[in-house]
Amino acid sequence: MAEDVPELSVGVLPPWRGQGVGRALLTELARRAVEHGFARVSLSVERANHARRLYVTEGFTTVESGPDSDTMVMVLSER
Ligand SMILES: CC(C)(COP(=O)(O)OP(=O)(O)OC[C@H]1O[C@@H](n2cnc3c(N)ncnc32)[C@H](O)[C@@H]1OP(=O)(O)O)[C@@H](O)C(=O)NCCC(=O)NCCS
Repeated sequence: MAEDVPELSVGVLPPWRGQGVGRALLTELARRAVEHGFARVSLSVERANHARRLYVTEGFTTVESGPDSDTMVMVLSER
């Protein structure tokens, strides 16, 4: 969405899903992004994907909506 806003792509191999790995990855990614001086990180998610709930509970908010997917942003200074 902007050159200074990294876009995340998160995936956990099927046997490891539902055990907190995705949430731990996001927490660590946010910590490292702050460390590297970024103010925001973004991602795109299909609206039907259960990952959306993970992102909302981690503090991402929707900034743009397409027909089936949303662009979401986490403001790191608020963490
Ligand atoms: C999305 C993904 C990264 C989540 O990783 P994960 O390790 O399974 O997630 P966690 O175990 O940390 O769960 C975090 C939250 O995700 C949601 N969640 C995870 N698995 C879920 C499921 N099967 N159904 C509904 N919600 C689910 C829950 O809100 C959960 O929060 P809770 O533990 O408080 O209930 C993983 O499922 C994945 O790789 N999916 C396929 C690829 C993909 O869709 N990536 C996202 C593209 S935007």
